[in-house]
Amino acid sequence: MPATVVIGAQWGDEGKGKITDVLSEHANVVVRYQGGNNAGHTIVVGDERFALTLIPSGVLNPLVTPVIGNGCVVDPAVLLAEMATLAERGIDPSRVRISGNAHMIMPYHRKLDAVMERYLGQQQIGTTKRGIGPAYSDKFSRHGIRMQDLFDPKIFRSKLEVVLKDKNRLLTKVYNQLPMDIEPIAEQYLGFADRLREHVTDTSLLIWEAVNRGDNVLFEGAQGTLLDIDHGTYPFVTSSNPTAGGACAGAGIGPTAITSVIGVAKAYISRVGSGPFPTELDNPIGEKMVEIGGEFGTVTGRRRRCGWLDGVALRYSVRVNGLTEIALTKLDVLSHFDELRIATAYDSLDNRYVDFPRQQRVLYNCQPVYDDLPGWGVDISSVSSYDDLPKEAQHYVEYVEELAGVPIRTVSVGPSRAATLTKA
Ligand code: IMP
Repeated sequence: MPATVVIGAQWGDEGKGKITDVLSEHANVVVRYQGGNNAGHTIVVGDERFALTLIPSGVLNPLVTPVIGNGCVVDPAVLLAEMATLAERGIDPSRVRISGNAHMIMPYHRKLDAVMERYLGQQQIGTTKRGIGPAYSDKFSRHGIRMQDLFDPKIFRSKLEVVLKDKNRLLTKVYNQLPMDIEPIAEQYLGFADRLREHVTDTSLLIWEAVNRGDNVLFEGAQGTLLDIDHGTYPFVTSSNPTAGGACAGAGIGPTAITSVIGVAKAYISRVGSGPFPTELDNPIGEKMVEIGGEFGTVTGRRRRCGWLDGVALRYSVRVNGLTEIALTKLDVLSHFDELRIATAYDSLDNRYVDFPRQQRVLYNCQPVYDDLPGWGVDISSVSSYDDLPKEAQHYVEYVEELAGVPIRTVSVGPSRAATLTKA
């Protein structure tokens, strides 16, 4: 393992939480490097289901140091609530470490996220309305307030004063909203300081020391490749870099430290929110995937759009992330379908595309070119070894492997840790 990056190879919701949880059995440090509480990780341990949005999945292993890196945006109220919930359920959150350079999500970010979406009308992105985009915008326009500012009330107030003046102009003059008062915000946020002090540190140094000790470090991406601000289906993306390169900037490590990159892909595909989706099944087959796969968002509860596995997008993901292997999840969901399809190319505007098209207009007009594969028609959720899978299921996995050009080493057939098969 030494330094492994785990990323979503599709539009998020691939089951990264479960795979990270399984891998973190051997990890010493698990690092989130981008995103905020827009991400939902569902992990099932025994009869217990944990839904985390900000704290890395590795927190469930008492030997792991969970780290929230500088590339994340942190809503401190959500973070504290998540730590309190974990503590109530017997999981010690005192090990959580947060970068002092991570930017904070402020109340005006949440408000702006909601009103900006409303103003976009038909063009709306379908964000999670957690303030993610506005928080990253402030980071890049250098108006952000960072975790470390909580511990210097003078600096915190002076930054807040400047930025809030600007936000209030925007809220009142552009978006026709009431202005926000500085006092309740300052009081609430400075009130978080004492509870967060012991958690906030130089996480880049912490990770560097762990790597140099030869510890196993796992970098956990949130969302997925096709939601990446640079490499996703812009503008229907999130505001950070979930791709593997994001791990370096978002954790404060160099690329030479990374030894492997695991892409998590669902055996079919889904997306929440707006945007192009070539293999979408807006029909009873897609409905059935939603029902059987339980495809409703962990964060917003929204119904996910579903479709057949997209081999073009998967190859793209292999390329932009430099994947060294794939973990294929939710294969059990496909047991309920007699005939299976995988897209190998797209037809769009009189051209055939085998590589993922970069132009929005091309992508919107894509008609997938499918290969058909036989289903296996039996429940595989209690199969405990890859070799015991029906031959059609093995064929499906090996077909995806061939198409992607990198090995599939992990196949998940259910939500529990036990339902994880290793492929030689
Ligand atoms: P934002 O990240 O809230 O700004 O939302 C931008 C887009 O990313 C929307 O389409 C969201 O539905 C999507 N998105 C954000 N987080 C996740 C996630 O964890 N899984 C899947 N989609 C997500």
